[in-house]
Amino acid sequence: MTTSVLPNPIGTSPSALLYAMRRDPLEFFTTLAREHGDIVRFRLGDHEQDLFLVNHPDYVRDVLVTQDRNFTKWFAVDRIKEVLGDGLFVSEGEFHRRQRRLSQPAFHGERIAAYAEQMVSLAVRLREGWIEGAVIDVCREMNWLAMMIVGSTLFGANVESDAEQIRDALDEILEQFERSILPRADREDFEKALGRIDAAVYRIIQVRRAKSEDRGDLLSMLLLAQDAEGDGGRMSDLQLRDEAMTIFLAGHETSANAMAWTWYLLSQHPEVEEKFHEEINRHLGGRAPRMGDVMELSLTGRIFSEALRLYPPLWAVGRRAIVECQIGSYTIPPGSVVIISSFVTQRDPRWFPEPLLFDPERWQPAARSERPRFSYFPFSAGSRSCLGEAFASTEGVLCLATIGQKWKFRLAAGAPIALQPQLTLRARNGIKMRVERRV
Ligand code: HEM
Repeated sequence: MTTSVLPNPIGTSPSALLYAMRRDPLEFFTTLAREHGDIVRFRLGDHEQDLFLVNHPDYVRDVLVTQDRNFTKWFAVDRIKEVLGDGLFVSEGEFHRRQRRLSQPAFHGERIAAYAEQMVSLAVRLREGWIEGAVIDVCREMNWLAMMIVGSTLFGANVESDAEQIRDALDEILEQFERSILPRADREDFEKALGRIDAAVYRIIQVRRAKSEDRGDLLSMLLLAQDAEGDGGRMSDLQLRDEAMTIFLAGHETSANAMAWTWYLLSQHPEVEEKFHEEINRHLGGRAPRMGDVMELSLTGRIFSEALRLYPPLWAVGRRAIVECQIGSYTIPPGSVVIISSFVTQRDPRWFPEPLLFDPERWQPAARSERPRFSYFPFSAGSRSCLGEAFASTEGVLCLATIGQKWKFRLAAGAPIALQPQLTLRARNGIKMRVERRV
């Protein structure tokens, strides 16, 4: 086994590094990778924890795929467990594999095809509510849309009356995550916010239980779930709540961000926007899109992929080594934490020349095949990859096409756009845009 000496930000004290990370985590990780290479060891403040930022596609593959059993998940903020409990995002080992197996059928191709119609009809409803010249916050609007889509497709629930409350509660929780890197986040506000989301999730479960019908959606699967190979026991109420909460939150916060950033990027690149409009006109004429159009709307797909490259909603993931591992020629001791940032790697000029340029043509098959597979991983990879990847990709294309048929958006004057890297990559203060009729 060869062991190279790990690059270390020599001369920079852990407290200076902590300060830099708190000030701007995206800038901090980007600089660390660009200045110190594909794997960097560092410590923050007086924490005794060795942290490794891993940036090379081969190392990303090693951690997420080839050696995934050598790692467990790691959360910068343990509070995520207070929200998601022992749901899929958080659970480990055989239990995680079992729960993932139970939920998986709700995400198979034929199920997603069945959700397409609801995705489009909710997008139509949203677009019909806007008026020419109005200023909207596309983050808020996309949040409503993504939440309604997850609620109706996977839970058979109309979450409209809860949407505002859930959104505000989630804002509070995510802000607390951001602040709790600093000491003493406000516990009482956190619990109140969590209580509001909890109440909504329990309400969804109770309504379905009361009807005891099998609608073939995710909630039915969870309610009926019995482990065919195992003890045959039903999931406890608490576990059901944890799984429902996980998919409800993971399934809308991420997609909403991705769609909002896409509208922003299109507004900044009218030449791409024009081609996007041409594609929608050519394929759809005036009719609403359907599942069968998703493959045909190939530029729309490339636009969404490119938006996920520049603004990956889950911009970093963490893993903890449970045994000593060899990543490239480096030895990672057990207990160390490895951080992988899609934001950093996906903006690396070695894989994406002129990385800040929004260029959907990077996603043409020929261009794609020239890049290492793990230079792009907005949905992560391996056994912990996103369960909702196909759902989200379908939703993205269908919603963009449906809304883009009627409207385009332009940044409202005096609305500066700033990244807010919380648990997800949000826009600080939202993205205020003027609604303009296309024709
Ligand atoms: C553009 C939208 C989305 C993005 C960028 C995204 C990204 C991700 C990423 C990066 C992970 C892995 C996190 C890690 O490795 O620590 C993940 C996990 C997960 N995602 Fe997504 N996601 C999206 C949409 C969705 C949707 C729509 C759903 C469900 C409806 C969903 C459900 C999940 C679940 C359940 C997990 C945990 C999987 C496991 O650990 O087994 N996601 N997502």
